Amino acid sequence: MGRYLREHAEVVAGRRVFDLASGSGLCAIAAMRASAASATASDIDPFAIAAIRLNADANACRVSTIGRDVLDEPPPEAEVILAGDCLYDADLARRVLPWLLTARNAGIDVLIGDPGRAHLPVDDLVELANYEVRTTSDLEDLQRTRASVYRLR
Ligand SMILES: C[S@@+](CC[C@H](N)C(=O)[O-])C[C@H]1O[C@@H](n2cnc3c(N)ncnc32)[C@H](O)[C@@H]1O
Repeated sequence: MGRYLREHAEVVAGRRVFDLASGSGLCAIAAMRASAASATASDIDPFAIAAIRLNADANACRVSTIGRDVLDEPPPEAEVILAGDCLYDADLARRVLPWLLTARNAGIDVLIGDPGRAHLPVDDLVELANYEVRTTSDLEDLQRTRASVYRLR
């Protein structure tokens, strides 16, 4: 997702961006570096919220954080939602996908970054880009894999 936003800044430039399940803050930071009007990063893990703040500061980006679970709430006030690797778990995917579809139906552009997880709703997606990416062998069983960025139809 970070690489895609670097190559296609027009997707977020001047827009309010919401980064769901932000982890390190990477997608929100990439959006701000691509001239987003604002970026809000959400994650339920307090360590992620701390990391997002540190990484945003290290990259001289202003990123707001939300530490609660937003998946039972209406879609955020945003023009673009970024969802990077949120579909790695069946239970999470069951909650994330309807929330993203509701956001899409409300007119929000939804981009999903995914390294080929089993829960990807391929029929609802348009592939925008496919990249070879490095992985961390602490977490994954490969050193490199392919990952795609999709738009929710
Ligand atoms: C695989 S990481 C993805 C991080 C980041 N989006 C990226 O692409 O690098 C998944 C993240 O989802 C977060 N997460 C899990 N359930 C969540 C929920 N209900 N709401 C928000 N974040 C959640 C985890 O804490 C974790 O940081």
